[in-house]
Amino acid sequence: MKIRVLTLFPRMFDCLNESIIGRAIKNGILDFAAIDIREYSKDKHQKCDDTPYGGGAGMVMTAQPIYDCINAVDPNHEYLRVYMAPQGETLSDGLCRDLARSGDLLILCGHYEGVDRRVLDLCIDKEISIGDYVLSGGELAAMVVTDGVARFIDGVLGSSASHEDESFSDGLLEYPQYTRPPEFMGLKVPEVLLNGNHKEIEKFRRAESERLTALRRPDLLVGKRAATADEMRGGGKNGD
Ligand code: ADE
Repeated sequence: MKIRVLTLFPRMFDCLNESIIGRAIKNGILDFAAIDIREYSKDKHQKCDDTPYGGGAGMVMTAQPIYDCINAVDPNHEYLRVYMAPQGETLSDGLCRDLARSGDLLILCGHYEGVDRRVLDLCIDKEISIGDYVLSGGELAAMVVTDGVARFIDGVLGSSASHEDESFSDGLLEYPQYTRPPEFMGLKVPEVLLNGNHKEIEKFRRAESERLTALRRPDLLVGKRAATADEMRGGGKNGD
């Protein structure tokens, strides 16, 4: 899978060269590049922003460099083109899975007070938010999307079981994990995890997942019950 991020601050993405995503990039499983929008500016000082029409604080990113950058990277509109913005669809586990399946991804990062609306209307397929707060730019949000999506690409995680066991994979939060030593600062690892009985361990983990979800994210259980009831009535997305 290819991911191209269009940004005024490409060096911010250097941190993706670490850890799991860094390994996927090195192994060629994820083809990632951050592209500097400024290089496409036709302004003699490579300016990429201007004051907003109608007045107001801050600067707005101009359409021309973004338009030319998008068309240089994706001349035949083969990528899904995403703009990171608080008004977009909120990122979720399901959306990450869908994006990982939907082919190559071009992610545009806005900065300052945003981007001239016309270039978004002309070029962008989808807007995505990472939550109800405003960041100073789309870069950190684009990194979140890159990481969240890349984990669903085959071969990025060590074993395919890894993300099936995680929070949200079954609509529940993940059970707590422990490793050696069996006792730390007087706190013991639950006995059941030490006895090697896999059925018992599975039961314990499921119960812990349900308990934690009820405690911390009861909204997830409501969504899950509604989905189950819908399935039992023969509903669901495909009507089957
Ligand atoms: N840019 C600024 N704030 C953002 C957010 N919450 N999500 C995505 N992109 C953003």
